[in-house]
Amino acid sequence: MGALDNNALVAVIGAGAMGAGIAQVAAQAGHTVKLYDNRPGAAAQAVAGIDRQLGRLVEKGRLQPEAREAITARLQPVEAIEALTDACLVIEAIVENLQVKQALLLQLETLCAPHCILASNTSSLSITSLAAGLQRPQQVVGMHFFNPAPLMALVEIVRGLATAPAVAAQLYETAKAWGKQPVQTRSTPGFIVNRVARPFYAESLRLLQEGAADCATLDALLRDAGGFRMGAFELTDLIGHDVNYAVTCSVFDAFYGDFRFQPSLAQKELVDAGRLGRKSGQGFYSYAEGAQRPHADELQSQATVECCVVEGNLGVLQPLAERLRDNGVAVSERAGLGLIQVGDATLALSDGRLASQRAREDGLRNLVLVDLALDYRSASRIAVSWSADTTSLARDQAVALLQRAGLRVSAIADLPGLVVLRTVAMLANEAADALLQGVGSAANIDLAMCAGVNYPLGPLAWAEQLGLGYTLRVLENLQRSYGESRYRPSLLLRRCDAQGARLHE
Ligand code: NAI
Repeated sequence: MGALDNNALVAVIGAGAMGAGIAQVAAQAGHTVKLYDNRPGAAAQAVAGIDRQLGRLVEKGRLQPEAREAITARLQPVEAIEALTDACLVIEAIVENLQVKQALLLQLETLCAPHCILASNTSSLSITSLAAGLQRPQQVVGMHFFNPAPLMALVEIVRGLATAPAVAAQLYETAKAWGKQPVQTRSTPGFIVNRVARPFYAESLRLLQEGAADCATLDALLRDAGGFRMGAFELTDLIGHDVNYAVTCSVFDAFYGDFRFQPSLAQKELVDAGRLGRKSGQGFYSYAEGAQRPHADELQSQATVECCVVEGNLGVLQPLAERLRDNGVAVSERAGLGLIQVGDATLALSDGRLASQRAREDGLRNLVLVDLALDYRSASRIAVSWSADTTSLARDQAVALLQRAGLRVSAIADLPGLVVLRTVAMLANEAADALLQGVGSAANIDLAMCAGVNYPLGPLAWAEQLGLGYTLRVLENLQRSYGESRYRPSLLLRRCDAQGARLHE
């Protein structure tokens, strides 16, 4: 099934932020687009707004003036829904309310031709519920764009229980023809992105609540060690806490209160206070005129170190040894359990246990745990935590060694899995469960997280890079530490690890 023909008329209903963006995308791809909003004048206003946006592209030399004229000419604001009868595809982007959207779809079904595809841009409602009660539920499909639609590549094509495969396939091809990166998914709470991304926010919120470090330090670690574009606090400040909290609550409720998705009291408090982020001038950070963004904490060491000993196979931490060598540290090797010895200190990559617990269980003296980095060769910062009985001299020596590699070092309270490791393990866990439940293929899930929320690596590919056994062990240790079902490992991780199988085919 090919993409919709360029001559096919596209209708967009709802001329708000999303509807206007979607109309622009379709018009840029060559379709005539009718835009309708039940607020009189809103559609015409939106078209004028799009034309201004295109004008800015012309000024920057990214669009020819003739192209701007042609695109704007293809955008037709209409004031009556009856003007949409000849559409081949209707995309609704009206208020996020099941009853209102159902009523609209019922009306569209009587107005439009039987072959017309009825697409919804809903980010949280069930496509199956939206289509229930219609004569032709097979024509209803989710087409979930990301904000701002003209810039964000990802589009989730969401099949409800009754959606005809040919309809989903045609919309997939159409999104591709519009220059987007579509992924196929099923109508389950949060679809792919809004489900799999939940731990990204949740783990930072939890770390903050448990006194791991301040917001600026936790954000800096996700950026500088994890390779994420933004940390969770700056990102939720940007999204708006009302919006982000509402999505978490909706996914949590839709999964019957599964603790994996439990909303955060720290975020609720911000919402209750009206501290919604950038848009209200205050969220986790202040956006008041002249406000200074706080700096991330960084340890300073008094020690000088020239050499260290690598004991055994460091696994994913191995590139750190090479980076130390490149920076002039004398690194010798001997057999052992994957540890680095420097002065009095023992450094180890976290396995999800508390430093104090691991020091006792494994009989390690002066233990300093190191967090995960996306790439130890290029990371600029790393988190460490230490056991209660680690001496200040050993701590200093461990920090000095990491600084010799050119890393800034930030301390985290002794919490399981530090920052990047527990975030990545939980993202991979959710992605694995989504895969197990057929929400999308492994390739689609990873692609969605990279194209939709700019993750530096798909969570499933990341788990494979870390080793499924190691990822599983981290989750088991998190679950053991907290005793909560929130950290229970996905059965798929366990099964693939037991079978020596991969998550990606
Ligand atoms: P918005 O509030 O900016 O725009 C909604 C527009 O729909 C308004 O102009 C309103 O007048 C109009 N409208 C409301 N009821 C209508 C009806 N019965 N008939 C015709 N027009 C009607 O909302 P926004 O942010 O554009 O969201 C729209 C949809 O897109 C929602 O379903 C939302 O969940 C979804 N979405 C929003 C994203 C976002 O970041 N804002 C991202 C992805 C999806």
